[in-house]
Amino acid sequence: MDKVLLLYSGGLDTSVMVKWIQQEMKKEVVTLTLNIGNSNLDEIREKALSLGVSDAIVMDVKNEFAEKYIKKEILADGMYEGYPLSTAIARPLMAEKAVYYAGEYGCGTIAHGSTGKGNDQVRFEVTAKAIDENINVIAPVRDWNMNRPDEINYAKKYGIKVPKDGKYSVDENIWGRSAEGSTIENIANPLENDVYEWVTPLEETGNGETIDIEFEKGIPKMINGAEYGLEELVEKMNVIAGRNGIGLVNHMEDRVTGIKSHEVYEVPGAMAILYAHKMIESLTLNKYELDLKEYMDNQWSNFAYNGLWYDPVMEHINQFESSLNNYVNGKIKLKLYKGNMVMKSIESDNSVYNYEKISYDNSNFNQDSARGFIDIYKNNTVYTNNARKQKIKVIQ
Ligand code: ARG
Repeated sequence: MDKVLLLYSGGLDTSVMVKWIQQEMKKEVVTLTLNIGNSNLDEIREKALSLGVSDAIVMDVKNEFAEKYIKKEILADGMYEGYPLSTAIARPLMAEKAVYYAGEYGCGTIAHGSTGKGNDQVRFEVTAKAIDENINVIAPVRDWNMNRPDEINYAKKYGIKVPKDGKYSVDENIWGRSAEGSTIENIANPLENDVYEWVTPLEETGNGETIDIEFEKGIPKMINGAEYGLEELVEKMNVIAGRNGIGLVNHMEDRVTGIKSHEVYEVPGAMAILYAHKMIESLTLNKYELDLKEYMDNQWSNFAYNGLWYDPVMEHINQFESSLNNYVNGKIKLKLYKGNMVMKSIESDNSVYNYEKISYDNSNFNQDSARGFIDIYKNNTVYTNNARKQKIKVIQ
């Protein structure tokens, strides 16, 4: 009998899914639970086993997530419509593991809990197929036509403990927390403070704090002089930036499925790290590099958001990003205060900033040549205007 490998979170949807696959599809289920944030793996494994699955695989992948996914996002300053991508970059990792364990456990099908309205189904399925074109992927929520009360009834019928789900639909990993649904869906509603878990509401933050962040080849390595691996550094930054009100995003978003949605993110560490990273870039890269990088960063973000992590073009973009980031070394001092970040000082051995050349206090720059430079530089604009017999109207 063909088995199904189910990406299992322990929540209501995926718990009902276990029974549904067993009952309606008459297939054995193997669950896979990945901890990318703060899932309680032991509890979830127990729950899966109690539902009669043939195996319940659990694993902590936070470090792999940081090293293989967050790292690339930092190099590419990955943001979509103004927020650091978090859910979007965790899905390919989940799909990757699902395909791998499906192979190991003899499952020809993988199942995930996404709905038909969101981006995540696209990310799971495109990634899975990119890795193994022949794998079968199902998303029971799209097929079973059950609303939440139906799911609760179904759960009761099969003795599934109905988890006390929170008010919002939340997805979180160490890089960010996303909330949707419930009162968030009514965009005229002011955002309620009960959405906040990682970011302190501005009215409750203190006097702010100053921190030093040090980067090596584009990756943050130290906070206030102490060295951390990326996973730990991200978690630390979430706490520091979060308590200063940094990283709350409440915005409208355009999904791959053509739907405009209202989304709330808490991304304190990611915001602070990307801000600091961009500042070091602006010191160590030149104008042409920065212009091209902005274009490539945008491409990177769109491909990541749209579920195309494993499109071959990403390999080229990532190589470009790594190559430029070889020069992104240095240290920045940031003041964090009530949701604001202000640079206090910055330094780098790769600094392109040249004090000798720019300072008004010395004569190390041939000001005389500026006249000749402008005489030629103006030509394009002046000649074109002449050709068009355009008189520029000057307001008197
Ligand atoms: N809309 C976000 C994205 O596409 C995150 C959605 C995560 N799901 C949730 N139930 N909060 O990346």
